[in-house]
This record gives sequence, structure tokens and C-alpha cells, in this order.
Amino acid sequence: MSQNKRYNLPIPFGWYAVSPSGELENGAVKALHYFDRELVLFRTESGEAKVLDAFCPHLGAHLGHGGSVVGESIACPFHGWQFSGEGMCEHIPYAEKKPAKVVDQACIRHYPTREDNHAIWVWYHPQDKAPQWPLEHIPEMFDLEYWSETHFREWVVNCHIQDTNENGVDKAHFAYVHTSPFVPSADVKVDGHRRVSEVQGQSQAFDETGTPIKDQFMAHSFISKSWGPGFTWQRFQGATDTMMMGTITPISQEQVHMRFFFRYPKPETDMAALFTQGYMDEMCRQVEQDIQIWNYKCYQPNPILCDGDGPIHQYRKWFSQFYVE
Ligand code: FES
Ligand SMILES: [Fe+2]
Repeated sequence: MSQNKRYNLPIPFGWYAVSPSGELENGAVKALHYFDRELVLFRTESGEAKVLDAFCPHLGAHLGHGGSVVGESIACPFHGWQFSGEGMCEHIPYAEKKPAKVVDQACIRHYPTREDNHAIWVWYHPQDKAPQWPLEHIPEMFDLEYWSETHFREWVVNCHIQDTNENGVDKAHFAYVHTSPFVPSADVKVDGHRRVSEVQGQSQAFDETGTPIKDQFMAHSFISKSWGPGFTWQRFQGATDTMMMGTITPISQEQVHMRFFFRYPKPETDMAALFTQGYMDEMCRQVEQDIQIWNYKCYQPNPILCDGDGPIHQYRKWFSQFYVE
């Protein structure tokens, strides 16, 4: 690999979030760039989210820049051809007869799209194969009696998607990047596209004003589930009860879009609110510490590891199932 190219890993297949649901009104059109492709996301008049390749098969206009929703279709800004969310040409306003190439067949690549967990998701496969597992539904994202509204954070990071996920098994970095005095001990189980880790650890203790108490820690447990490369869910119980849905979407081989959707039980006391806020801030602070490394690192396909490192090879073996070949 040339030293100028930091990754030679392909983009893996899976379900990926492309937008929070609330960011797309009925009739809205958005240009997207994910999977190293130009895409268009739109919401039809009846409210369905759809994703297509962006370039019009007529003369190449970008449907995401000036395209408009007409009923259940998107109209191209250049000559007004209309396409359904399944990539069929539904209407050419000035043609008497449609070209044979668009009759009864799709003429733009479309991506299987689902909306759940307050986000819009697409299935990406480099060879355009059908979804290989269903999108997971997270009940905690909907129960508003117990859980609060969603708190949302996002980052664009210059690294390959495999590296962001590898963080959880890289034991030694907790001490050096996050200056955590404890290395979490995790029990990891894998089952096809699923991966579940249960972690017992220690976290910073706080006094009643929310100030960290020096050298004092409290026990916590943490469960993390992943479904494929782009979708994780974590629940932390200890000083506070917090859940986080994390989505990671490849922009290219060397860039990802990370989104964190946090929820926590409606706090009953000011103290509980402080702990929760402190926990969310801490998660974001840790990610930002990781980003400082991720933004500049390269991928070592054959790393020299030592006995204190975590199960990096096992993790990579699991992840490799999402690559074609
Ligand atoms: S380029 Fe889209 S209709 Fe002509
Ligand atoms: Fe980290």
C-alpha cells in the first residue's frame, strides 16, 4: 500500500443510517454522499423516505440539487423526468413514447430504505445484493414514559469504518488515550452479523454538586450490541441509566459519519440529571479523544501485537464477513 493511502479496505455491506427522521420533511430532497457515491434522499408526499443514485440517466443532472418531489416520485431539475423511489422512470413530460430502456425496468440504482428508531436507513451492498438481515428495532427509542427525548450528537471522522468499531476491543488505548485507570473486562459473544459485549468496569465518582471526586470510582455495567458494521446500541447502568444508539455510515473508504442518539430515564432529581449529563459529556469527550487518533492513523493489516492487547484479531475476523470476496 502506498504511504499516501491510509486504507486499502473496501466499504462493507450492511444497514446504515443516512439521516435522522426529523431532518426530512414530507416533500424534502437532500443530496447525500455516502459509500463513495453521490445519492439523493427524498420523502414522498405520502411520507416514505427513498434513496437513489443521484445522477439522472437522461443527461446526468444531480437529482439532489434542485430536484423536487411530485407525488411519490422525484422530478429532475434539468428536463423534468420523474423517477419513483424504486428507480423507475414514471413520466417524461414532453415525450410521446418512453424510450424502451425505461419501460418496465429500473433505470437508476435504488437502495432498500427503512425508517425505524427515529432514523432513515439504507442497505448498502457493493454488488447491489438484497438485505441479508432485517434492520433491528430498538424499543427503548420509543418508550417516552420511561425514557427522555433523544439527545443527538454527530461527527465526521477521517478513518475507515472498521477502525471506529475496533476501539472497543483495543484494551490498551483506554489508559493512554482516555487516561482511564481501569481496563474494562469484556465478555464478547458473536453470532453471525450480531456481536454482544458485556463489560464490567469502573467509572468516575462525583459528589452531590456533580464535581468529580479525585481517585474515587464506582462500579458500572455496560452492554453493547452491534448488528453489522454500522449500527450499535449501548446501555450503561451504574451511577446513571443511559442508552445510546450509535450509527456509523461510510462516506468513503477513509471517512465516516458517526451519529449518537442518547436517551435516559426522565430524571427525578437534579442529581440524576447531573449524572446523566456528565455521562453523556464523558462519552462525547472520549470519542473526541479517539477522533484525534483516527483522523491521522493508517490501517496495519498485520499489526505487531503484544499480550496486553485486546482481542483485535477476533474482532477483525468477525468484521471481515461484511466484505465481498
Ligand atoms: S438530465 Fe434529468 S431529465 Fe434531463
Ligand atoms: Fe476509545
